[in-house]
Amino acid sequence: MVSSVFVVGNWKMNGSVLLAGDFSTELRRIQPELATEVQIALCVPDTLLVSFDLDKKIRIGAQNLSEFDAGAYTGEVSANLLTEQGCHLVIVGHSERRQLFSESSEQVAKKAAQALRNGLTPIVCIGETGEQREEGKTFAVIGEQLLAVQQELGEAGMASIWLAYEPVWAIGTGKTASPEQAQEVHAWLRDQLGSVGTELPILYGGSVKAGNAAELFQQRDIDGGLIGGASLDINEFEGICRAADTLIKRKG
Ligand code: 13P
Repeated sequence: MVSSVFVVGNWKMNGSVLLAGDFSTELRRIQPELATEVQIALCVPDTLLVSFDLDKKIRIGAQNLSEFDAGAYTGEVSANLLTEQGCHLVIVGHSERRQLFSESSEQVAKKAAQALRNGLTPIVCIGETGEQREEGKTFAVIGEQLLAVQQELGEAGMASIWLAYEPVWAIGTGKTASPEQAQEVHAWLRDQLGSVGTELPILYGGSVKAGNAAELFQQRDIDGGLIGGASLDINEFEGICRAADTLIKRKG
Protein backbone atom coordinates (compact mmCIF):
# COMPACT_ATOMS: atom_id res chain seq x y z
CA MET A 1 0.00 0.00 0.00
CA VAL A 2 1.02 3.64 -0.44
CA SER A 3 2.26 4.68 2.99
CA SER A 4 2.84 8.39 2.37
CA VAL A 5 0.31 11.20 2.33
CA PHE A 6 0.78 13.51 -0.63
CA VAL A 7 -0.02 17.21 -0.35
CA VAL A 8 0.24 18.77 -3.80
CA GLY A 9 -0.58 22.38 -4.52
CA ASN A 10 -1.82 23.49 -7.93
CA TRP A 11 -1.36 27.23 -8.17
CA LYS A 12 -3.04 27.31 -11.62
CA MET A 13 -2.42 30.73 -13.27
CA ASN A 14 -1.83 32.44 -9.93
CA GLY A 15 1.02 33.44 -7.67
CA SER A 16 4.05 35.63 -8.18
CA VAL A 17 7.80 35.65 -7.57
CA LEU A 18 7.02 37.34 -4.25
CA LEU A 19 4.62 34.57 -3.19
CA ALA A 20 7.14 31.91 -4.21
CA GLY A 21 9.65 33.60 -1.89
CA ASP A 22 7.18 33.71 1.00
CA PHE A 23 6.27 30.03 0.49
CA SER A 24 9.94 29.08 0.41
CA THR A 25 10.56 30.78 3.77
CA GLU A 26 7.49 29.26 5.40
CA LEU A 27 7.93 25.76 3.98
CA ARG A 28 11.55 25.72 5.17
CA ARG A 29 10.17 26.38 8.67
CA ILE A 30 7.29 23.88 8.50
CA GLN A 31 8.71 20.93 6.61
CA PRO A 32 11.32 19.75 9.17
CA GLU A 33 8.54 19.37 11.74
CA LEU A 34 6.60 16.96 9.55
CA ALA A 35 6.95 13.19 9.19
CA THR A 36 9.00 12.20 6.15
CA GLU A 37 5.91 10.41 4.79
CA VAL A 38 4.23 13.79 4.26
CA GLN A 39 5.24 14.39 0.67
CA ILE A 40 4.80 18.01 -0.34
CA ALA A 41 4.82 19.33 -3.90
CA LEU A 42 3.85 22.56 -5.62
CA CYS A 43 2.77 22.70 -9.26
CA VAL A 44 3.24 26.28 -10.38
CA PRO A 45 3.26 28.39 -13.55
CA ASP A 46 6.36 27.63 -15.66
CA THR A 47 7.84 31.08 -15.05
CA LEU A 48 7.93 30.37 -11.29
CA LEU A 49 9.62 26.96 -11.49
CA VAL A 50 12.98 28.44 -10.52
CA SER A 51 11.65 31.05 -8.10
CA PHE A 52 11.56 28.72 -5.08
CA ASP A 53 14.30 28.00 -2.61
CA LEU A 54 13.14 24.79 -0.96
CA ASP A 55 14.49 21.69 0.68
CA LYS A 56 15.00 19.00 -1.99
CA LYS A 57 12.31 16.86 -0.34
CA ILE A 58 9.69 19.30 -1.58
CA ARG A 59 9.05 18.71 -5.25
CA ILE A 60 8.31 21.37 -7.81
CA GLY A 61 6.02 20.60 -10.70
CA ALA A 62 4.47 22.14 -13.79
CA GLN A 63 0.82 22.08 -14.85
CA ASN A 64 1.08 21.05 -18.48
CA LEU A 65 3.60 19.96 -21.11
CA SER A 66 3.74 19.35 -24.84
CA GLU A 67 3.35 15.80 -26.12
CA PHE A 68 6.11 16.62 -28.65
CA ASP A 69 9.89 16.57 -28.10
CA ALA A 70 10.81 19.90 -29.71
CA GLY A 71 10.17 21.92 -32.84
CA ALA A 72 7.78 24.42 -34.36
CA TYR A 73 5.12 24.45 -31.63
CA THR A 74 4.90 28.11 -30.71
CA GLY A 75 3.88 28.69 -27.11
CA GLU A 76 4.35 25.08 -26.00
CA VAL A 77 6.83 23.84 -23.39
CA SER A 78 8.55 20.47 -23.70
CA ALA A 79 9.29 17.88 -21.03
CA ASN A 80 12.98 18.47 -21.53
CA LEU A 81 12.66 22.21 -20.92
CA LEU A 82 10.79 21.46 -17.71
CA THR A 83 13.35 19.00 -16.36
CA GLU A 84 16.09 21.55 -17.11
CA GLN A 85 14.35 23.86 -14.65
CA GLY A 86 14.48 21.24 -11.88
CA CYS A 87 10.90 20.16 -12.40
CA HIS A 88 10.00 16.67 -11.10
CA LEU A 89 6.27 16.49 -11.62
CA VAL A 90 3.74 17.66 -14.16
CA ILE A 91 -0.03 17.74 -14.01
CA VAL A 92 -1.69 16.37 -17.14
CA GLY A 93 -5.34 16.31 -18.08
CA HIS A 94 -6.57 18.80 -15.54
CA SER A 95 -10.28 19.37 -16.19
CA GLU A 96 -9.57 23.02 -16.97
CA ARG A 97 -7.32 21.92 -19.81
CA ARG A 98 -9.80 19.31 -21.00
CA GLN A 99 -12.68 21.82 -20.93
CA LEU A 100 -11.09 25.17 -21.81
CA PHE A 101 -8.36 23.94 -24.15
CA SER A 102 -10.16 20.92 -25.62
CA GLU A 103 -7.57 18.33 -24.59
CA SER A 104 -8.78 14.84 -25.42
CA SER A 105 -8.16 11.74 -23.33
CA GLU A 106 -5.82 10.47 -26.06
CA GLN A 107 -3.78 13.70 -25.96
CA VAL A 108 -3.65 13.54 -22.17
CA ALA A 109 -2.39 9.96 -22.41
CA LYS A 110 0.33 11.04 -24.88
CA LYS A 111 1.39 13.83 -22.53
CA ALA A 112 1.63 11.35 -19.64
CA ALA A 113 3.81 9.07 -21.77
CA GLN A 114 6.00 11.99 -22.82
CA ALA A 115 6.46 13.01 -19.18
CA LEU A 116 7.50 9.47 -18.18
CA ARG A 117 9.94 9.16 -21.08
CA ASN A 118 11.68 12.29 -19.82
CA GLY A 119 11.84 11.39 -16.14
CA LEU A 120 8.90 13.51 -15.03
CA THR A 121 6.14 12.00 -12.89
CA PRO A 122 2.78 12.83 -14.46
CA ILE A 123 -0.12 13.57 -12.14
CA VAL A 124 -2.99 12.41 -14.33
CA CYS A 125 -6.29 14.12 -13.51
CA ILE A 126 -9.65 12.55 -14.18
CA GLY A 127 -13.13 13.50 -13.08
CA GLU A 128 -16.77 13.87 -14.02
CA THR A 129 -18.92 17.00 -14.30
CA GLY A 130 -21.92 17.57 -12.03
CA GLU A 131 -24.27 16.80 -14.89
CA GLN A 132 -22.50 13.52 -15.65
CA ARG A 133 -22.72 12.51 -11.97
CA GLU A 134 -26.44 13.32 -11.85
CA GLU A 135 -26.96 11.19 -14.95
CA GLY A 136 -25.18 8.28 -13.26
CA LYS A 137 -22.26 8.44 -15.70
CA THR A 138 -19.43 8.98 -13.20
CA PHE A 139 -17.76 5.61 -13.65
CA ALA A 140 -18.24 5.55 -17.42
CA VAL A 141 -16.61 8.97 -17.77
CA ILE A 142 -13.64 8.42 -15.49
CA GLY A 143 -13.30 4.87 -16.81
CA GLU A 144 -12.86 6.22 -20.35
CA GLN A 145 -10.35 8.85 -19.17
CA LEU A 146 -8.38 6.21 -17.27
CA LEU A 147 -8.47 3.60 -20.05
CA ALA A 148 -6.86 5.98 -22.56
CA VAL A 149 -3.89 6.39 -20.20
CA GLN A 150 -3.71 2.66 -19.42
CA GLN A 151 -3.63 1.81 -23.12
CA GLU A 152 -0.87 4.31 -23.81
CA LEU A 153 1.34 3.50 -20.81
CA GLY A 154 0.79 -0.18 -20.16
CA GLU A 155 1.10 -1.75 -16.69
CA ALA A 156 4.72 -0.74 -16.10
CA GLY A 157 4.08 2.89 -17.02
CA MET A 158 0.94 3.04 -14.89
CA ALA A 159 2.97 2.05 -11.82
CA SER A 160 5.00 5.25 -12.23
CA ILE A 161 2.24 7.85 -12.41
CA TRP A 162 0.20 9.61 -9.75
CA LEU A 163 -3.53 9.71 -10.31
CA ALA A 164 -5.84 12.51 -9.16
CA TYR A 165 -9.59 12.16 -8.94
CA GLU A 166 -10.99 15.65 -9.30
CA PRO A 167 -14.76 15.82 -9.66
CA VAL A 168 -15.28 18.92 -11.81
CA TRP A 169 -18.28 20.00 -9.72
CA ALA A 170 -16.07 20.20 -6.63
CA ILE A 171 -13.31 22.33 -8.17
CA GLY A 172 -13.25 25.91 -6.95
CA THR A 173 -16.86 25.65 -5.83
CA GLY A 174 -16.43 25.01 -2.10
CA LYS A 175 -18.58 21.89 -2.69
CA THR A 176 -16.21 19.12 -1.60
CA ALA A 177 -17.11 15.55 -2.43
CA SER A 178 -18.02 13.86 0.84
CA PRO A 179 -15.31 11.54 2.16
CA GLU A 180 -17.63 8.62 1.32
CA GLN A 181 -18.26 9.83 -2.25
CA ALA A 182 -14.54 10.29 -2.85
CA GLN A 183 -13.62 6.97 -1.22
CA GLU A 184 -16.15 5.13 -3.40
CA VAL A 185 -14.50 6.43 -6.57
CA HIS A 186 -10.95 5.91 -5.29
CA ALA A 187 -11.69 2.29 -4.35
CA TRP A 188 -13.19 1.74 -7.81
CA LEU A 189 -10.13 3.26 -9.47
CA ARG A 190 -7.79 1.10 -7.43
CA ASP A 191 -9.73 -1.91 -8.55
CA GLN A 192 -9.53 -0.86 -12.23
CA LEU A 193 -5.78 -0.48 -11.91
CA GLY A 194 -5.34 -4.16 -11.12
CA SER A 195 -1.97 -5.24 -9.80
CA VAL A 196 -0.44 -1.72 -9.93
CA GLY A 197 -3.37 -0.30 -7.95
CA THR A 198 -1.56 -0.61 -4.64
CA GLU A 199 1.60 1.06 -5.95
CA LEU A 200 0.49 4.47 -7.14
CA PRO A 201 -0.87 7.36 -5.14
CA ILE A 202 -4.46 8.34 -5.86
CA LEU A 203 -5.06 11.93 -4.79
CA TYR A 204 -8.37 13.68 -4.31
CA GLY A 205 -8.87 17.23 -5.63
CA GLY A 206 -11.79 19.63 -5.26
CA SER A 207 -12.16 22.24 -2.51
CA VAL A 208 -9.69 20.60 -0.13
CA LYS A 209 -8.93 22.91 2.79
CA ALA A 210 -7.26 22.73 6.19
CA GLY A 211 -10.70 22.12 7.71
CA ASN A 212 -11.67 19.07 5.63
CA ALA A 213 -8.31 17.51 4.73
CA ALA A 214 -8.16 15.09 7.68
CA GLU A 215 -11.52 13.46 7.00
CA LEU A 216 -10.67 13.02 3.32
CA PHE A 217 -7.10 11.78 3.83
CA GLN A 218 -8.14 9.22 6.41
CA GLN A 219 -10.21 7.34 3.84
CA ARG A 220 -8.61 4.03 2.98
CA ASP A 221 -7.96 4.75 -0.71
CA ILE A 222 -7.25 8.48 -0.57
CA ASP A 223 -3.49 9.03 -0.52
CA GLY A 224 -3.55 12.81 -0.31
CA GLY A 225 -4.83 15.88 -2.09
CA LEU A 226 -4.36 18.05 -5.16
CA ILE A 227 -5.16 21.47 -3.82
CA GLY A 228 -6.08 24.56 -5.81
CA GLY A 229 -7.25 27.70 -3.99
CA ALA A 230 -6.06 26.64 -0.53
CA SER A 231 -2.53 26.05 -1.85
CA LEU A 232 -2.09 29.79 -2.42
CA ASP A 233 -2.63 30.59 1.24
CA ILE A 234 0.32 29.48 3.34
CA ASN A 235 -1.78 29.11 6.50
CA GLU A 236 -4.31 26.88 4.74
CA PHE A 237 -1.56 24.91 3.04
CA GLU A 238 0.27 24.46 6.33
CA GLY A 239 -2.98 23.27 7.93
CA ILE A 240 -3.38 20.63 5.20
CA CYS A 241 0.25 19.48 5.62
CA ARG A 242 -0.27 19.24 9.38
CA ALA A 243 -3.48 17.25 8.93
CA ALA A 244 -1.48 14.77 6.83
CA ASP A 245 1.25 14.72 9.48
CA THR A 246 -1.22 14.00 12.29
CA LEU A 247 -2.66 11.07 10.34
CA ILE A 248 0.79 9.60 9.69
CA LYS A 249 1.86 10.00 13.31
CA ARG A 250 -1.41 8.51 14.59
CA LYS A 251 -0.90 5.43 12.43
CA GLY A 252 2.54 5.17 14.06
P1 13P B 1 -9.73 23.87 -5.65
O1 13P B 1 -8.95 23.26 -4.51
O2 13P B 1 -9.57 25.35 -5.74
O3 13P B 1 -11.15 23.41 -5.63
O4 13P B 1 -9.08 23.32 -7.00
C1 13P B 1 -8.86 21.96 -7.13
C2 13P B 1 -8.01 21.74 -8.31
O5 13P B 1 -8.42 21.97 -9.44
C3 13P B 1 -6.64 21.23 -8.10
O6 13P B 1 -6.05 20.82 -9.29
